[in-house]
Amino acid sequence: MPYDTVTRENIDIMVHEFYARILKDEMVGPYFTKSLGADINSPKWFEHFSTLISFWVLMMIGAPGYGGNPFPPHAFLGQLYPETFERWLELF
Ligand code: HEM
Repeated sequence: MPYDTVTRENIDIMVHEFYARILKDEMVGPYFTKSLGADINSPKWFEHFSTLISFWVLMMIGAPGYGGNPFPPHAFLGQLYPETFERWLELF
């Protein structure tokens, strides 16, 4: 997709479609359900989607919004393996 057609709206769609795929995945899905629960309509998931949308808006368009630090949440996910990350990337 050319850079100038990336918008908050299509990032929102991308994030929701990506997580629908993530949650069906036997290797990566459990990290998310353990941390955020299985109900993607819960307030916790709503907050996660908002954070991720702001993160990708900052990465792709450079628009401010995400002010967090992605490292700390990942440090407490339990054991992650190179294959876990490779799978995440494949799904992405
Ligand atoms: C094996 C790969 C990955 C797993 C299993 C994973 C899992 C998670 C989980 C469970 C959370 C929610 C933590 C919580 O709020 O309790 C999270 C947050 C997040 N992840 Fe990942 N993640 C992975 C890779 C990535 C990658 C490659 C990126 C960036 C390109 C990324 C970006 C983020 C961001 C921005 C957040 C939100 C951080 C915040 O709250 O400020 N993740 N991740």
